[in-house]
Amino acid sequence: MTERILIGVAWPYANGSLHLGHIAGAYLAPDIFARYHRLKGHEVLMVSGSDMHGTPITIRAEQEGKTPVEVATFYHNEFKECWKKLGISFDLYTSTETENHKNVVQDIFLTLLKKDLIYKDSMLQPYCPQCRRFLPDRYVEGICPLCGFTGARGDQCDKCGKPLNPTDLKDSRCRICGAHPQTTNSEHYFLRLSAMQSQLLEWVKKQSHWRPNVLNFTQRYLEDGLKDRAITRDIEWGIPVPVPGFEKKRIYVWFEAVIGYLSASMEWAQGQPEKWRPFWEGDSKSYYFIGKDNIPFHTMIWPAMLMGYSGLNLPYDVPANEFLTLQGGKFSTSRNWAVWLPDYLATYEPDPLRYLLSANMPETADADFSWQEFYRRNNDELVATWGNLVHRVLTIIQRNFSGVIPHPFPLNGIDQALLTKAEETFKAVDQSLANCHFRDAIRSAMTLAQEANRYLEEKSPWKSKDSQAIATTLYVALSVISCLKTILYPFLPFSSQNLHEYLGFPGRVETNRWEWQKPSPGQQLPKPKPLFIKLEEKMVEAEMAKMGGG
Ligand code: MF3
Ligand code: ZN
Repeated sequence: MTERILIGVAWPYANGSLHLGHIAGAYLAPDIFARYHRLKGHEVLMVSGSDMHGTPITIRAEQEGKTPVEVATFYHNEFKECWKKLGISFDLYTSTETENHKNVVQDIFLTLLKKDLIYKDSMLQPYCPQCRRFLPDRYVEGICPLCGFTGARGDQCDKCGKPLNPTDLKDSRCRICGAHPQTTNSEHYFLRLSAMQSQLLEWVKKQSHWRPNVLNFTQRYLEDGLKDRAITRDIEWGIPVPVPGFEKKRIYVWFEAVIGYLSASMEWAQGQPEKWRPFWEGDSKSYYFIGKDNIPFHTMIWPAMLMGYSGLNLPYDVPANEFLTLQGGKFSTSRNWAVWLPDYLATYEPDPLRYLLSANMPETADADFSWQEFYRRNNDELVATWGNLVHRVLTIIQRNFSGVIPHPFPLNGIDQALLTKAEETFKAVDQSLANCHFRDAIRSAMTLAQEANRYLEEKSPWKSKDSQAIATTLYVALSVISCLKTILYPFLPFSSQNLHEYLGFPGRVETNRWEWQKPSPGQQLPKPKPLFIKLEEKMVEAEMAKMGGG
């Protein structure tokens, strides 16, 4: 059966370069998932875009003396370049600054307003007497009322994840000047989340296939009670509120950013206006790949908006990842404790990073990136285990058979055992990927590569005098390599494409199906090159020196 899969990927704020924490948290997993489903022959629509509004952008613009649109456009272009180099295969990567997005957001706003799920009320808004301005949520800092964390921001506590209103904070301060904000009344629109609470809870209770951390967090949160939230703000940068009298206010960045999944799907379908619908209706499944700090917006607020709007599918799964740490510490832009993606991509190939972050994905717990581990996994696992297996087999075929795939002779028990193991691995990886268990999937694949190496050692075709046995061994090993080519492709698309060609297959690897393609005996193979490059140990120190204070 052809499945239809909508893959929504968190919209990164266009206020600074991406680092490895972003990639491990939200961007690599959906790409693996999309590539897998495309090979399965399913219809996939993977969308995202740059989150260009909100105070993260205006804060950066103020710091740099630029306009918000200048800052956001710069990073938007940088992000697009990164996706291309890292192979993150969006069907559409757009931004929240498009005319289309604005129209869709305003339509949803007005629809919910008409249904009385959005209402007008006045609220106390932090106002800084010293700066003489209303303070956006993120310009206010204070103590989290839930967990007591002292650096909580007015929109969310980074410690416990609770979404906040700025007035919830205790001992709040203006982030620009440190003064205590006053509170002044201001008219705003509110999303009637309280009305959706029981419907949401009922729905969430049925999502037993969600990751336990996502499910538990959401359920606990809903049981505590859901409060209405202001969805407009006293700022100038953002999407205008489509109601007279609100010309000076803008729609809250989170309300509009989540709508990006829908507006981007519509933009993707431009020219064929109804083409997006099958991805949003009926038995199409929608997956939202995000970091754990975004969970409430995707398991409660966006679903509540969709329930209110009605007619479109709710999320099927929200496989949120935990955080990546860097050499044991939190990623920090201000302390330059980060590995910036543009720097990485200017120096190294994409697949070694994709490999490491897959093998060590923060799927169920936080995971750590270190340059030592990068070095080790590249040299010991990619080069020595996988790359070497491929290179040994391909070069012996060149040497002993002039590059022509040998015809196998009857298989013995050892040959058969390896092929059976490959068969099982193929199925196991299939299952793991379908369930978003990326780490398990790549581990199974690498275990098969290890077994194939052991098999080669055991048969030692380079020592053997039995030409039939040599031919059989090489054919069996080549078959298993071809199996690995397919199951590793979602993780390692660049090297898998090269291997696809070395194995004598035509065209692009992604135009093939999720199946074990058997090599054709008698076929001439091209001269291979090594799939991966061995790193020198001194790169570890050189990279470490770039981090932090240097
Ligand atoms: N820009 C937000 C962040 O980086 C994420 C937005 S995800 C979406 O935390 F829901 F808005 F799309
Ligand atoms: Zn101030």
